[in-house]
Amino acid sequence: MAQNSILFCILALGFFFGVSYAFDPSPLQDFCVADFNSTVRINGLPCKDPASVVVDDFFFRGFNVTGNTTNPYGSSTIPMNVARVPGLNTLGLTVARLDYSPGGFVPPHFHPRGTEILTVLEGSLEVGFVTSYPNYKHYSKVLEKGDAFVIPVGLIHYQRNLANGNTVALGVVNSQNAGVTVVSNAVFGAKPAISSDYLSKAFQLDKKIVEELQAKF
Ligand SMILES: *[C@@H]1O[C@H](CO)[C@@H](O)[C@H](O)[C@H]1NC(C)=O
Ligand SMILES: *[C@@H]1O[C@H](CO)[C@@H](O)[C@H](O)[C@H]1NC(C)=O
Ligand SMILES: *[C@@H]1O[C@H](CO)[C@@H](O)[C@H](O)[C@H]1NC(C)=O
Repeated sequence: MAQNSILFCILALGFFFGVSYAFDPSPLQDFCVADFNSTVRINGLPCKDPASVVVDDFFFRGFNVTGNTTNPYGSSTIPMNVARVPGLNTLGLTVARLDYSPGGFVPPHFHPRGTEILTVLEGSLEVGFVTSYPNYKHYSKVLEKGDAFVIPVGLIHYQRNLANGNTVALGVVNSQNAGVTVVSNAVFGAKPAISSDYLSKAFQLDKKIVEELQAKF
């Protein structure tokens, strides 16, 4: 009886964690290499015929190449995702090389469907995220070469290069499509625009400043 209860608890916990901690659905086969030609709409991408799967469906080359950081942020992302590597379809994983020039940064953003681990390969990177509970607590850390940091799913976070030279990091998320929402673009760059009267009240800013921000994003 006691043993049965323990077994039941273990099974129940397994079920609970299985359901609540697996963000992308678990695969039901070895792989489901994406068929980009299919017009079928499902959660993810349809599988191509396993017989036509080739080794290059699982292969990516390019993490040895420094990203182009000539942009207003001074940063770049080179993703190895399902769009580039169809063999990643349904496997719940994306990796990216991140480059930051001196002074480079990534604006505040969040990934609606993925927890991230950032690992610094070269340079020095300030990273931080803000929680919903406790209310707006800010956790931040300066990462040096070899350091890694967890950014929990859905939380607003940012990065900036603190090194005099370039910083290189590897970002991993546990979703094949974690999504990226940049806060400034979502709020001030929404199309059609969110009412500037409303934003001026919500942000306690002069309406002119709100309209300037809306023109920018
Ligand atoms: C998709 O279509 C292109 C062009 O017709 C073809 O070369 C390619 O092999 C197709 N891919 C798959 C996965 O069927
Ligand atoms: C990256 O590696 C590829 C393949 O090994 C090579 O062809 C390319 O020249 C390398 N690029 C750089 C910038 O090192
Ligand atoms: C980097 O990006 C900038 C802006 O898009 C572009 O003008 C420049 O040619 C790019 N540099 C390289 C090496 O691709």
